[in-house]
Amino acid sequence: MAEISRHPFLQGLSKHRGAPPTVVVIFGASGDLTARKLIPAVYNLGVDNLLPADFYLVGYGRKAIPDEEFRTLAADAIKEFSRRELNQDSWGRIAAHTSYVAGGYDDKAAFDRLAAHIAQIEKSIGREVQTLFYISTPPSVFEPILLNLGASGLAAKYIGQAHHAKVIIEKPFGHDLASAQQLNATLRRVFEEYQVYRIDHYLGKETVQDLLVQRFSNAIFEPLWNRNFIDSVQITVAEEVGVGARGGYYEQSGCLRDMIQNHTMQLLALTAMEPPVAYEAEAIRDEKVKVLKAIQPLNLGPGGDVARAQYAAGMMAGKSVPGYLQEEGIAPQSATETYAAIRLSINNWRWQGVPFYLRSGKRMARRVSEIAINFKPAPGTLFAESNRFNLAANTLSFQIQPDEGLSLILNTKIPGLETRLQPVKMSFRYATTFGSNTPEAYERLVLDAMIGDGTLFIRGDEAETSWKLYTPVLEAWAKAGRTGLDSYAAGSWGPPCSDAILAQKNHVWRQP
Ligand code: BG6
Repeated sequence: MAEISRHPFLQGLSKHRGAPPTVVVIFGASGDLTARKLIPAVYNLGVDNLLPADFYLVGYGRKAIPDEEFRTLAADAIKEFSRRELNQDSWGRIAAHTSYVAGGYDDKAAFDRLAAHIAQIEKSIGREVQTLFYISTPPSVFEPILLNLGASGLAAKYIGQAHHAKVIIEKPFGHDLASAQQLNATLRRVFEEYQVYRIDHYLGKETVQDLLVQRFSNAIFEPLWNRNFIDSVQITVAEEVGVGARGGYYEQSGCLRDMIQNHTMQLLALTAMEPPVAYEAEAIRDEKVKVLKAIQPLNLGPGGDVARAQYAAGMMAGKSVPGYLQEEGIAPQSATETYAAIRLSINNWRWQGVPFYLRSGKRMARRVSEIAINFKPAPGTLFAESNRFNLAANTLSFQIQPDEGLSLILNTKIPGLETRLQPVKMSFRYATTFGSNTPEAYERLVLDAMIGDGTLFIRGDEAETSWKLYTPVLEAWAKAGRTGLDSYAAGSWGPPCSDAILAQKNHVWRQP
């Protein structure tokens, strides 16, 4: 406990963050996400003493893996991917309660074995425990897993009590509106909505949570946060990585499904939502859904609201890299977009007439995610008439990652006998103020699901509202194939068609 109170991020948490005894079952236990994110998240929660004393980890997968081997795989994953080094004491406590169950996802008998395994854990400690199912498999098996959780009685276990079963579902949550609706329908057959935690790992990022804190704990923002003072909003999620070894997945997905429909829309919802009546899950999610519903259908015609492109060969950090079509597992004439840009109009009192621009791409010049709020310029009465006055409009930018922080561009007088102006950047950096060992998104999300807090998860109607907006785009792009698909050199800031969307309203993309 002493360690908790010393750690600046955890101060205060020990008072109210007691997770109840829990068995976490990971479906897809030998998968990439489990190794890269889930096991390290559980481990780091253990290091911070945030796991309950009766914490059990059960891996589930098709492959037969002995318990001991699963523990070794988990330790290796921690060594490779954890933000903190493997400490034998901390890991030993978790490892002693770590086991593995092999079984198919459509094999009811295997789910009965899993149920018996959990019952055995409860018997060994003489108390009931909640089960948190983490579905981290390819989406093709979401449905059989859910149905078997229902059929085996695991989903309904302790329903009506605080330690009811809970389920986390990894993305992608559907691939269009119809599939998202179907997945929601299956979920509802088996679980109550309050048992369901749909992941968007962006919500677990510190800076994304800080967005709400900045907006609603500082009185200076709210009076300006509307169409009277804000000219436009730009949301950028740029990645340096290419498609890498994930060609098989990405060919079915593309940038719109992989990044825009989920991550950038979450950033938009938190930026544009009305103040919630309380800082709690339902109140926040109600406001998010409300603002998403106010977004106008997209204009898909020429000069419309959407642009897409694919990266061509280029240079990254001085090295030449192949184009998308030359990557492993990509169809020779693939029309999959690796970049998308969208202009959204929110038709409500706060935002009517303020364009929200979203863009995301792989193989871009630099990895950066940010939300830039561009304010209207000051009236041009005093400083606008001469080129001595290099007047900028104010921009508030939330730097989501890397180099997490917040900055504000202000005009300042250059010291000297003449009045000359220069825009300067006033910055706050997390790392400088708080140190750099910030918890990973998955730590926060696994902990929140364990304690039953759905604030940072997506509600069923939220997922459907976003798919509703983008499904016509996906259909139009599928129909058009490569016609209208622009290209950009790897290592650049994206294609010309994306600049054109902004140029229509005399805007340009900010260089983050
Ligand atoms: C995932 C996408 O959801 O987010 C990946 O499937 C992408 O394609 C990743 O690379 C980006 O996440 P982060 O946390 O690195 O910004």
